[in-house]
Parts: sequence; structure tokens; C-alpha cells
Amino acid sequence: MGFPLTRLRRLRAGDTSRRLVRETALSADDLVLPLFACAGDGVSKPIETMEGCFHFSPDRVAAEAAEAADLGIPAVLLFGLPERKDESGSAAWAEDGVVQDAVRRIKKQVPGLLVATDVCLCAYTESGHCGLVKDGQIDNDPTCRLLSKVALSHAQAGADIVAPSDMMDGRVEAVRQCLEQNDFHNTAVMAYSAKYASAFYGPFREAADSAPAFGDRRSYQMDPANVREAMREIALDIKEGADIVMVKPALCYLDVIRLARERFDVPLAAYSVSGEYMMIKAAAKAGCLDADAAMLEALGSIKRAGADIIITYFAKRAAALIGRK
Ligand code: PBG
Repeated sequence: MGFPLTRLRRLRAGDTSRRLVRETALSADDLVLPLFACAGDGVSKPIETMEGCFHFSPDRVAAEAAEAADLGIPAVLLFGLPERKDESGSAAWAEDGVVQDAVRRIKKQVPGLLVATDVCLCAYTESGHCGLVKDGQIDNDPTCRLLSKVALSHAQAGADIVAPSDMMDGRVEAVRQCLEQNDFHNTAVMAYSAKYASAFYGPFREAADSAPAFGDRRSYQMDPANVREAMREIALDIKEGADIVMVKPALCYLDVIRLARERFDVPLAAYSVSGEYMMIKAAAKAGCLDADAAMLEALGSIKRAGADIIITYFAKRAAALIGRK
């Protein structure tokens, strides 16, 4: 059947019919807000490379989390800026570390909000790498043991979800085993499964002070050219016990999200990273596009590609515009 019997414009003519046939809907329920915790009290320091984002001391991070919860956002994802860095990143598993403090504050103040924590070493090591360095290489297996300690310390502080973002082989299994052995059966693991070595992390590395001191992350993060390999990463993480798997970044990897959605029946998260956020912010500032419209279109495309969960620095703004289902 072709024209004129078929006229696709018929259902496109009015707002009500467009609403009726709309295939995907974004909701505040889909969103996760990343937050950066630093030491101190009463600190909220703007992050220069990420307009609208802040370094918050634990008290302020809790206030920000409460605002997110009020907007209907179900979860926050915490990153930490430690006061000291060392060779192994030991501040990452300190009982009184910034993330651990922030988790306790948020869970106390906003108990209904899910707290997820980024589990990695790059913000805590002098090398700025996500793992231990041995002879100029990233040493996989000992790193997994340290990551388990980090995840356990977050769970002990009250984290609901731990999210390993380092891309070591076998770290999901190491983290899951460690949580089970310590009776944290209900702490979920959200694995950064298909995390690419991307240029779009630029603004974040400033925000988290986590740029590698030498070399780059291509020996552990994925080659942007590969999609079949991403499916292997995801399959392995599911086998190792991941409750949620993730593709990161989002916008340049919508094909990866789509394929993962078709292949796997676990909840799928997509991380729309700092560079994606700032592209829209900067373009809007330059008068090139409307920030809200571009934001909703971009987030909508990630949902349409198949993500159940979208991690975005726009979470509060988007939730304020779209509300809950
Ligand atoms: C740490 C980590 C990074 C991001 C999240 N966790 C940086 C990196 O891998 O270099 C990037 C987040 C963003 O750009 O928004 N491993």
C-alpha cells in the first residue's frame, strides 16, 4: 500500500495523535545522577570543565541527593576526590573515605534513594590509572583484589549498588565473591561492561582529577571500533554476577546499546558521559542549539536504542521537565 492510501502524516498532525502513537517515553524513573564527593564541610565548588556540576562535601552531596530524590530520580552514582593519593590508591577503601562518608550521609538523610558508587582506583592512584602499575603495565589480578576491598567498603557504608568502572578482567566475579563472603547478598553490582577508551571523558578527568600520569587507558578500556567484543564483555560480566550491565559512552555507541538490548535480558544502563553533556552545554552557550530540546532528544535516543537506565549529568534538569511515568 502506497500513497495516497498511506499517508504517514495523518497521525503526525496533532499533538494528541502524536502522543497516542509515540513509541518510547523518557521518565525521571530512568535517570541516575552522578555526583562528586570531596572532603570538608559546607563545600560546593563548581567544576570548571563541567558547567553546572560541583564538588560537594558529604553534607552538601546529601542535600543535592535529596533534591534529586524530590524530582523523582531513583538513584545517584558517587565519585570521590580523595585528600591523598598513593601508589595503590588506598584512600579508595578507607572506612572514613569521602565516598564512604557521603554514602552514610545520603542513606541517613534520604533513605529511599538508591546510592550507587563508582568502584575504581584512577582518582586515588598517583599514576592516575585504574589499576596497579607494575613495570609500566596495569597489573590485572592484584587490582581485582583491591577493587573488591573498595566495593566492600562502599557496601559497609551502605551503598545499594557498586559499579566497577576499571575494566580489569574478572573484577565482577572478584567483587561479587567478596560481597557474598561478607554477607552483602543484597548489594547489587552494576558493571561498566562495555566501557570504551573514549575522547568524551575529557571534562570528567578534570572533574575527578583522574587523568593518567603516563600513557593512556587503551590496554584496558575497549577499542571504539569493536562491537562484537562488547557483547563478549557483557556476556562475561553477566556470568560473573553483574545485576546491571552498562555501555559507556552512550551517544557514539547507540548501536552497541541496541545490540546489547537484543542479546541480553538483564537491565541495561548507558552512561552519557561528561563530553556528551558538555557538547550540548557548549553548543547552547554558543547559541547553536536549544539546550533543553537537544538534551531531551539525546536522552530519548539512548532510551530508544534500548537502555533501561540512563546515567546523565542532565538528570535533574531532565527530571524537572519530564517528571515520572
Ligand atoms: C573512572 C571513570 C571515568 C568515567 C567514569 N568512571 C573516567 C575514565 O575512565 O577515564 C568517565 C565519566 C564521564 O566522562 O562522565 N574509571
